Amino acid sequence: MKLGPRLAEISHLVPRGYVAADIGTDHAYLPAYLVSNNISPRVIATDKALHPLEKARKTLELLNLFPKVELRLGDGLSALREEDGVEVIILAGMGGKTICRILHKGKALASRARSLIIQPMNDVALVRRWLVAHGFCLPEESLVRENGKFYEILAAKPGKQVVEDPFLLEVGPALVRQSHPLLPSYLETKINVCRQIQEKISSQAQGKNSEKYWYLERKRLKFKEVLESVAQGSRCY
Ligand SMILES: C[S@@+](CC[C@H](N)C(=O)[O-])C[C@H]1O[C@@H](n2cnc3c(N)ncnc32)[C@H](O)[C@@H]1O
Repeated sequence: MKLGPRLAEISHLVPRGYVAADIGTDHAYLPAYLVSNNISPRVIATDKALHPLEKARKTLELLNLFPKVELRLGDGLSALREEDGVEVIILAGMGGKTICRILHKGKALASRARSLIIQPMNDVALVRRWLVAHGFCLPEESLVRENGKFYEILAAKPGKQVVEDPFLLEVGPALVRQSHPLLPSYLETKINVCRQIQEKISSQAQGKNSEKYWYLERKRLKFKEVLESVAQGSRCY
């Protein structure tokens, strides 16, 4: 089976040889790919709703992947048990706040994992801040573009992360450290988004007097600073 660019990039960050859990699996494409390609010996695929699990069951039956993939109904990490021996936890395609809530509720289990592979649909900085504040580090990240949209993928693990500049949690410290090839265009998109919102605010009654305008201005300048340092191959970021 062939995955789209987002799920394919997530699969590249999954460490080989460990039992994995895919939380919020929906169609179960990722677990199916992981076991079919011998990346994971076994995957527990969970979802909080029955309809997605029905789709997952169809995928797995079609590909004859039971019992290598096991389906479970449940909210977040509560669907997992200690004796499952899960070492890799994947949380992809959900909002950043949902991911933080799942991690917060299941922190004991998450803290014992070898690796957390996280791809939030939004609020990625919030997720990075949650991870760093709760004893996780971010040794690796990736970026992928699908249908014109960027997706950030975080590979976190228990450990201490030293964050010299908290703004880097908006960008991804590992993306900067790794000089990810998509980073310049990713930063340009972020700068443009800030600019577009600022233009909208400027045309409204409060205009440049609004706090949001200047918050975005500071953010835009910081993104620009990171972009310039990345372009120069500077080591200050
Ligand atoms: C957009 S799909 C993402 C599917 C797949 N992970 C991917 O990245 O393509 C999001 C899925 O997460 C499930 N979900 C949302 N909140 C959840 C939670 N707290 N626990 C388990 N599953 C959840 C939804 O039911 C839905 O099937």
